[in-house]
This record gives sequence, structure tokens and C-alpha cells, in this order.
Amino acid sequence: MDTQSPLFSANRLPTSHPGIKGGEQWLGGFALKTKPMHLKLSSGYRARASAASINAIEIPSQWYNLIADLPVKPPPFLHPRTFEPVKPEDLSPLFPDELIKQEASNDRFISIPDEVLDVYKLWRPTPLIRAKRLEKLLDTPARIYYKYEGGSPAGSHKPNTAVPQVWYNAQEGIKNVVTETGAGQWGSALAFACSLYDLNCEVWQVRASYDQKPYRKLMMQTWGAKVHPSPSDVTEAGRKILQLDPSSPGSLGIAISEAVEIAATNADTKYCLGSVLNHVLLHQTVIGEECIKQMEAIGETPDVIIGCTGGGSNFAGLSFPFIREKLNGNINPLIRAVEPTACPSLTKGVYAYDYGDTAGMTPLMKMHTLGHDFIPDPIHAGGLRYHGMAPLISHVYELGFMEAIAIPQIECFRGAIQFARSEGLIPAPEPTHAIAATIREALHCRETGEAKVILMAMCGHGHFDLPAYEKYLQGNMVDLSFSEEKIQASLANIPQLVP
Ligand SMILES: Cc1ncc(COP(=O)(O)O)c(C=O)c1O
Repeated sequence: MDTQSPLFSANRLPTSHPGIKGGEQWLGGFALKTKPMHLKLSSGYRARASAASINAIEIPSQWYNLIADLPVKPPPFLHPRTFEPVKPEDLSPLFPDELIKQEASNDRFISIPDEVLDVYKLWRPTPLIRAKRLEKLLDTPARIYYKYEGGSPAGSHKPNTAVPQVWYNAQEGIKNVVTETGAGQWGSALAFACSLYDLNCEVWQVRASYDQKPYRKLMMQTWGAKVHPSPSDVTEAGRKILQLDPSSPGSLGIAISEAVEIAATNADTKYCLGSVLNHVLLHQTVIGEECIKQMEAIGETPDVIIGCTGGGSNFAGLSFPFIREKLNGNINPLIRAVEPTACPSLTKGVYAYDYGDTAGMTPLMKMHTLGHDFIPDPIHAGGLRYHGMAPLISHVYELGFMEAIAIPQIECFRGAIQFARSEGLIPAPEPTHAIAATIREALHCRETGEAKVILMAMCGHGHFDLPAYEKYLQGNMVDLSFSEEKIQASLANIPQLVP
């Protein structure tokens, strides 16, 4: 039996990888260090690996910061008025000091506070599951694994960052936090975390999701949060939008403007964001760190890693620790982000400095963007309706360490039904994108006969998203057509920076 851990053996680089040129191993233009694998399992141990041992691992004690290992550092955030790089004090009206430090940190690992680890234990480690029944249904030689984050109290990966964000705020004496929510998942996660540490929580829920998901609102209220539909008449940003379009479905960009406005104008209130920023992606790496240990325990190496991307946090959470291993030359999986065709920031957006919100109150971030005033059509995956992509993911994409595709929602729900009827779990609308892409890859393997290992981020359950399933099952779901004109119009409003 092969005694090498296949997970980290450098000789698994597929020769067809576009980054491998002229016999040299190149990855996005950067030479791979072909170090020998650094984690080994004895063959005896691997032989005993079972479905039980796959999940018998410790929760990692540190989050991983990919910035420390990147060959080129990401561009800085800029002040929205002066266009100078932001200073920590520019961010302090919105965030506690510790999160501002994490946002700009170059440290490779950051310790997870014991109090946060203690809460993580409520649902972590999360299971890594082999989708054998889905494999059978698809008649594919591929081995499909999914890392399931839906067992958290809020039903998704979002509490992985909500808990530390609220904990750091509580440590610095903050009593009120505000936020936006697209799918309702992030708002519920923050409401849950606030209930643990006794903070007041106010949430602006995107109108389309507020109407589609009354039970998400009730969940937030159960944990004690106050919920507004966005756009609302509570803020100036919301009132401006309502004047232009009283029946606006809202967007994450608008809801962010509303929450940021409240935080910026109330000294006792801070803002929390559920995606996009470096510290959010950092907290989510607990997913990938766990998953590396789990794959190692069963002697598997992912050939393809797939995750859906809204702002990018679940995707980054799973993939960034694997990108570290890729940069170290130990493995070479394809890493594939999947976005909705109705909001294709990576595949159709431009890489430019833009605001994170619609009203232009946040720092300017260099990211793939459809324009800060782009309002995506109200697809069911509310958490993917964001005009931009996390600056760090955008940077990693520019460096060539990952790829991206866009999939329309009917194909996603078709995949979700196959997944539900084979694996049992009913996915949230967002990870249906990862499922559809996984099915595409597995069917491709059926054609080629390749037994690839596909690792997928299954970031949440869809128990409060059943109206979307009803639409699909009744044949009433539509693929909202992608409008090039609409994107061009909002791209024209991206701030023009003087070089
Ligand atoms: C279940 C679920 N998955 C994915 C997302 C998209 O966010 P991100 O790309 O940050 O993971 C959301 C956002 O609300 C979500 O609720």
C-alpha cells in the first residue's frame, strides 16, 4: 500500500493544468515549491480510517491568513473621499480595534480565543461526508465529498464569524451592533451571537428576502434582534432609494449602506459584516483547516474544490487553507468559485476600486465588481446578490490560483433536488450553485472515466427556503436573463481614481 499521504504529495500535479508550462511547474506565473509532503499518515492508520474517524478530529485552534503566503500582497483599501490608503482610525467608527488589526494583519495564523472555541464546540467540528448516493445516482467514477456547515444554530457557516465578531465587540464594551442580511442567514447568525453575549442587534434584511423568508425574520426576533426591511425609511440611504423606486427589491449593497449609516452616526454602535472583508474570510478558514485534517484521516486528496460565492466567505473558508498547500507545492487542486448568472461579479465584472455599498460610504476596495449601484434581479439565492467579490478572493483570482463559473438558478435547483433525493439534506439556495457545479464535474468524469476527488462546500440548509423549492417543483421558476446593458450602466458609475 502507498504509505504517502496522497493529500500532500507534490507528484499529483495534473499535467493538463494550464499553469504548467514547458515541463516546469508554474502556478499562475509563480514557481511551485515542490517540497515533499509534510504531513504523513502511516498506512496502518489509513487502513483503519473509517466514516467515524473522518469526523473524529479536533477543532483547529487558529485561523489561517492567506495574505501571509501570497507572493504579491493585495492592494490596500482606500478612503472614500481622499483616495488615500485607509488608516486604522478611519475604520474605528465601524469596527472594534481587534477586528481592525485582523483586517490588516500579515500574520500567518491568528489564535482563536478560548471563549470562541467554546461556542464553536456547539456545532464544530462539522462533518465531511462522502456523497456516495449522489455518486451512484450520477453513475460517476468521481468521489464526491461535502463539508456541511448547516448544523450550526443558524443553519450555515455564518456563525463561524458572527461569534468572534460579537465576542470582540463585547470585549471592547460595545452594547449595540447593526448589520445587513441578504439570505437571512447572516442576520440570524449575528442575532444568535448577540444573544450569547447580551448585545443589542439590529438587522436590515433585503426586501426580496424579507418578503420571501418570514421565518428567517422570526428566527432573528427569537434571538432578540430588531429587523427592518431594506430599503427602509429609517435611514437616509434607504429613503433615497425608496423615493426613486418605492417597490425596490433591495440589494445587499443598499442594506449595507443603511446599517453603516446607523453605525457611523451613533457612537455607541458598531457595524458587523457577514462576508467580503479579510477578517470575515479569516474566521471562516476554520472550515478548511478542519477539512484538511479530515481528508488526511481518510487518505484523500481533492482534485477539484468547489464553493458558491456571494461575497466569498464560505468559499474562502474552505479553499484558502488548501491554497496554502497548493502554494507550498504539496497538492494542486483546481479551485472553482460558482456564482449566479444573475450576479456574476467574478465572471462578468471589472477588477477595479469600488464601494462596498450602494450609497458610497464604505472604503474603496479593489475587487471584481458589477458597480456599487447594480441591483441584481431577485433570484432565490439572496446571499449571492452582492455586486462585488471579496477583495482578497478577487486578488487570488487575478493571481490565477482559482477559476470561476456562473450557473443559472434552474440548473442549481435541479441539482439541489437530486442532492436532496440522494443525500437527504435540503440545501440553501446559495450552495445549490456549488452542487450544480459539482454535478457538472461528476458528469464530466463519467464521460472521461476519471475518478477525480471533488470537494464541495455545502454551506447551509434550506429549511426556510422552501417557497423557492415550491416554485421550482411547480415549474414556475425562471432564469432571469442577464442584462449586459444594466451592468454597463452601473459600471459607468464606478469611481474614477486619479492615478
Ligand atoms: C447559506 C449561505 N451560503 C452562502 C452565502 C454567500 O455568502 P458568502 O459568499 O460570503 O459565503 C450566504 C450569504 O448570505 C448564505 O446565507
